[in-house]
Amino acid sequence: MFEANRIYFFDTTLRDGEQAAGVNLNVSEKLQIAKQLEKMRVDVIEAGFPASSQGDFNCVQAVSREIKRSTVAGLARTKEGDIRAAAQALALAENPRLHVFLATSPIHMEYKLQMTPEEVLAEAKAGVSLARSLMSEVEFSAEDASRSDLEFLIKIFKVAVESGATIINIPDTVGYALPDEFYKLCKAIIEGVGAPESVIYSVHTHDDLGLATANSLAAVRAGVRQVEGTINGMGERGGNAAIEEVAMAIKTRSDFFALNINLDTQRLYPVSRLVSRLSGVTVPPNKAVVGANAFAHEAGVHQHGVLAKRETYEIMRAEDVGCTPAVMVLGKHSGRHAFRDRLELLGYNLDDLQLTKAFEIFKKLCDEKKEATDGDIEAIVADEIFSVKPEYHYELKDYTVHVGAGLSTAAIVLTRNGVELKDAATGKGPVEAAYLAIKRIIGLCPKLDSFRIRATSERANAMGEAFVILSHSGIKAQGHGASTDVIKASIRAYVNAVNRLYSTAAVRDIKFTGEVAAAS
Ligand code: KIV
Ligand code: ZN
Repeated sequence: MFEANRIYFFDTTLRDGEQAAGVNLNVSEKLQIAKQLEKMRVDVIEAGFPASSQGDFNCVQAVSREIKRSTVAGLARTKEGDIRAAAQALALAENPRLHVFLATSPIHMEYKLQMTPEEVLAEAKAGVSLARSLMSEVEFSAEDASRSDLEFLIKIFKVAVESGATIINIPDTVGYALPDEFYKLCKAIIEGVGAPESVIYSVHTHDDLGLATANSLAAVRAGVRQVEGTINGMGERGGNAAIEEVAMAIKTRSDFFALNINLDTQRLYPVSRLVSRLSGVTVPPNKAVVGANAFAHEAGVHQHGVLAKRETYEIMRAEDVGCTPAVMVLGKHSGRHAFRDRLELLGYNLDDLQLTKAFEIFKKLCDEKKEATDGDIEAIVADEIFSVKPEYHYELKDYTVHVGAGLSTAAIVLTRNGVELKDAATGKGPVEAAYLAIKRIIGLCPKLDSFRIRATSERANAMGEAFVILSHSGIKAQGHGASTDVIKASIRAYVNAVNRLYSTAAVRDIKFTGEVAAAS
């Protein structure tokens, strides 16, 4: 039974969040994020859309196996195949939830579904009934609810409840709603459907107009008790409602909302960093709650005020969201225990083998530079531990670059299955030359959609971290590389993305076209 005075958080970072352009997380990365979400006491973790790909099915299955306290949800259309696939992927979950969705707006029904409203009602009834016959917790979402007819919404939600849905979700799929209007819509639905107390109302908002958080809070005011969102607001187009914003608004303004949350908000900052690093989607410095400047005061007047009394310019404390500076800097004399504790604080949960490997790399790094910052540690863990190694994968063995004014050369040595493959190329700069040489070696010409480099700290001896997004044959893959040498970091990121392209192609059973024998 749901508590009437509590807001339940439904995190869909692994499903809707991962639909953000260029984001492609593998099973081990999704598990890492899921474990941290569970530690943060997120109520529901939506792990994927099992019928959409074998990769998503495997992720939902893996998360179901590992996560014991949070509910694990799997998404499905109302189609029988989708529902059975989701139920199968969720079979091992301690607390599973089947999330069924169907569009209800006139534009979606006519052009996407090509169904009449009567057919949509019948489809919802059949889908929810089947889902409920397989699972006791069923959520029904009326996709594009905010652009749907109110009477029709009430009708379809009544049908869903009668067919066994226990959670009724009202999505603002395209981020079109305005807070006042959304408040009225949610209130009218809650009153019109008149579901028993065992049913909880939910909202799922998108940020196309920058209103996702405001709309979620308006819905809460109207009586909605589940809020769906993602960490950092990551998601398609403008993204989803940011869990950290909604949670901190309800907590900071408890005088207004008077509602409880079970979320451990002190884990928001580490989880935000983890999601950002693994997805490659950076958090803007001015991002509310988790941005690097969220608690920074630059103006003299503000600094003076904060020093005199913190509350003059701060409505929440950095510690409340877990944004605390490192108490000690780790270096060459730090032991495995201190290293593991720091990783845990940073939001990483490594098994013994991964910890041993990460610790070795950390020690090597400390030989190169005396101390390792949090950024360095996060970078090496993301780079080494989560780099995918599908059967068909490349590793960087060696490289040399010569940088000239306007013309650089790069020679690259990769290995695949123990076989050495080498080639060289020229380019306007060393990174371009290196990427051309790699393309010659792998016999594949993926498109470079994005390339970014950043330093892991403000220090001159910071590591360089490179992020690339490659696309080929309709598959997009991101890659991450870290090194004290930015060229090496860039090469590693590219090779990592190539490996991800292959692993995604393997799960989707796609053979790349244009692939040719490796150049000699
Ligand atoms: O935005 C949306 O409508 C969704 C549904 C599947 C809930 O993501
Ligand atoms: Zn969505």
